Amino acid sequence: MAVSAFAPASIGNVSVGFDILGAALKPIDGQILGDNVDVFDGDSEFSLEITGWFANKLPADPKSNIVYDAFVGFKEFMGKKGLPVKPVKMVLHKNLPIGSGLGSSAASIVAAVEALNAFHDYPMTKDEALFLMGSLEGKISGSVHYDNAAPCYLGGIQLMVNELDVISRKVPSFNDWYWVSCYPGIVVSTAAARSILPKEYSRADAITFARRMGVFVQASYEGDDKLAAEVLKDCIAEPYRKQLIPGFEEACAKGKELGAIASGISGSGPSIFIVMKDLKKAEELQEWLKANFIQNDNGFCNICKIDTEGTVVTKL
Ligand code: HSE
Repeated sequence: MAVSAFAPASIGNVSVGFDILGAALKPIDGQILGDNVDVFDGDSEFSLEITGWFANKLPADPKSNIVYDAFVGFKEFMGKKGLPVKPVKMVLHKNLPIGSGLGSSAASIVAAVEALNAFHDYPMTKDEALFLMGSLEGKISGSVHYDNAAPCYLGGIQLMVNELDVISRKVPSFNDWYWVSCYPGIVVSTAAARSILPKEYSRADAITFARRMGVFVQASYEGDDKLAAEVLKDCIAEPYRKQLIPGFEEACAKGKELGAIASGISGSGPSIFIVMKDLKKAEELQEWLKANFIQNDNGFCNICKIDTEGTVVTKL
């Protein structure tokens, strides 16, 4: 038996919900925007092969890879339940760039944990798996936040709950929104992008943050996309992080000129997202971003819809 798990790219924060809102992405043209992890029967306890477009950006030692940490976390879980772990050969297809703001580390972690879970016939519940995914993500970024792991695993737009043992709940998304996602090709580490944020915020910012977040969820449930788009704004991270992203303001301004209803930084950047309702204009914006926002050959730009499936496991 062998399995493969595909975990999609995601937008952490979605501007309005720093650390508590995230959205999974799916390019409308069928391009792969996410990581895959395969699990086969192994000859030893653990081995890892890394392939994919960004494989050469990862440490050569498999035990320095987050997939190994996922294996260790999974093994600890199985140990606590008194269950055996099979010898595994894992293959990571690293398709998302590291330090891109597209939930790259979450995609590898989520795909690894879910592939191990499937390979062992699902000893973990979804909550148990998500708990492990969040703690592994915390090891990389310096703090536990599920805003990439939850949408990547469960799909859709996810709101972090963190009460009554509930990690995350889905918020309805608008089917006719096109999310133009653009990675400029440079690297911004999440830990670095977090370290430049203030430790404390004013009461005015706290109220603005809570008001917009509440309105966004309410408007999403009401199907009021005009209001939902209007409050898709960030007073927590964007004012400080935009300086790390060359051309951020020009890109948002171009989006607005072409009819964008919202825009912002994807996760901790440097990717950005711009929400459009007209596909032709979204395509025009995509071309403009390719020509003007992307900095080097590593960059790319996709027109996406919200991925409603999350992580998908297939038998090999
Ligand atoms: N919420 C996180 C941040 C997302 O903005 O730092 C990146 O992992």
